[in-house]
Amino acid sequence: MASGGGSGFGLSDLSRIAYGRGSYVYDESGKAYLDGSGGPAVFCLGHAHPEVNAAITRQLESIAYAYRYLFSSAALEQLTEMILRLCGAGFRDVIYTADGSESVESALKVGLQFYAARGQMKKRHFIARQRSWHGNTLGALSMSGFAARRHAFEGSLLDVTFVSAANAYRPPAGCAPEALAAHLAQELEQAIVAAGPERVAGFIFEPVVGAAGGVVPAPQGYAAAVQAVCRRHDVLLIADEVMCGAGRTGTWRALEHDGVVPDLMCVAKGLAGGYIPLGATVVGEAVAATILDQDGAYMTGHTFSGHTAACAAGLAVQRIIERDGLLARVRTTGAAFKASLRESLARFTEVGDVRGRGFFVGVELVADPRTRAPFPVGRGLSYDIGQRAFNDGLICYPCSGNVDGSAGDTIILAPPYNATDGELEEIIVKLTRAVEAALKAGPRA
Ligand SMILES: Cc1ncc(COP(=O)(O)O)c(C=O)c1O
Repeated sequence: MASGGGSGFGLSDLSRIAYGRGSYVYDESGKAYLDGSGGPAVFCLGHAHPEVNAAITRQLESIAYAYRYLFSSAALEQLTEMILRLCGAGFRDVIYTADGSESVESALKVGLQFYAARGQMKKRHFIARQRSWHGNTLGALSMSGFAARRHAFEGSLLDVTFVSAANAYRPPAGCAPEALAAHLAQELEQAIVAAGPERVAGFIFEPVVGAAGGVVPAPQGYAAAVQAVCRRHDVLLIADEVMCGAGRTGTWRALEHDGVVPDLMCVAKGLAGGYIPLGATVVGEAVAATILDQDGAYMTGHTFSGHTAACAAGLAVQRIIERDGLLARVRTTGAAFKASLRESLARFTEVGDVRGRGFFVGVELVADPRTRAPFPVGRGLSYDIGQRAFNDGLICYPCSGNVDGSAGDTIILAPPYNATDGELEEIIVKLTRAVEAALKAGPRA
């Protein structure tokens, strides 16, 4: 089962996968599982899509991979053109990576290179948010406000300033919901001023928080307010859309919803939909122009960056999403899906919040709905729900730690964009059953 907080299950507990078809995967015993979360929000077109598989096969039959310093390729060029078109105005370049952590790592490095190219070598410091997740490499992990995942590496992480999460369900003490965006923007400004604007290179945030928060869209006006603060102090705005981007929330860029164009953006999971590992850092016009004028190239990249077959997979996935109008489906059906889920879970007072956008929905469970106090960490409620759902043939994404880094139970649902209405209904029925059974069972002895 997908495991958000890293506790998970021993390897010997895992069923062996046999194959996938559409929204379902099957283990070697023949048991079917409806993939209600795309693993960790990856499989946007489900499994074994014949057109994606055919596109990858065609690429493999001509050449699997051409090294990017020796050759370009049709797949890479067409995918780059498509990503830039889907991103809209304000972006100029795509730097390919193999996953989300590398995309974040590249964004940080490109940000630093930008200031180096401008001769501002003091701008080396980053600001990030609590209850965030940016990846497992040392740089990306340094930006992540996720205590349980940082703990073993403390002492070797970059010195990063953390500001509050933008969470309307858990606002800073005494902050009214309508004042939240302004309050948080002011907090960011104070953090930049305290660190010294001449030292701060970038502010990185997830427009809709994934595993660390249990799907938390920022309040209305937040993104524009933090962008204004960043502009005032010459700080780059870095949007980590690894989980929420590539259409998951119903717009290709999650920040489109807020009318904000960041300086750098990271995508990965849904870009090639899990068919082959692929991520990207998308570079804004101003950052690209400065670096390319001064240095001629980006000082980042790995052997397999822009892997040809991975680009062919990404191109096929994105073409199908566009041709079949799946983002419109995510937008309209997503709202109904969330409403039905909320209705189905309404009888459990422990379900504190059902939130999200498009096909990216989070359920938060609380011990006390009045105070919003979490269940004890030791109860492992989200994993219990996840395990029960899994046994019942539903894959969801249980996460922990959204309240203080260790306490807090959330379940993420992130179905394929082409999931049928019947499959969406099955997700709701099975998750409701799992929540009911876990709550009834009570704490483990
Ligand atoms: C928002 C966000 N950024 C970065 C990452 C890291 O991506 P990966 O696990 O592909 O390295 C993740 C992974 O869950 C993520 O959700």
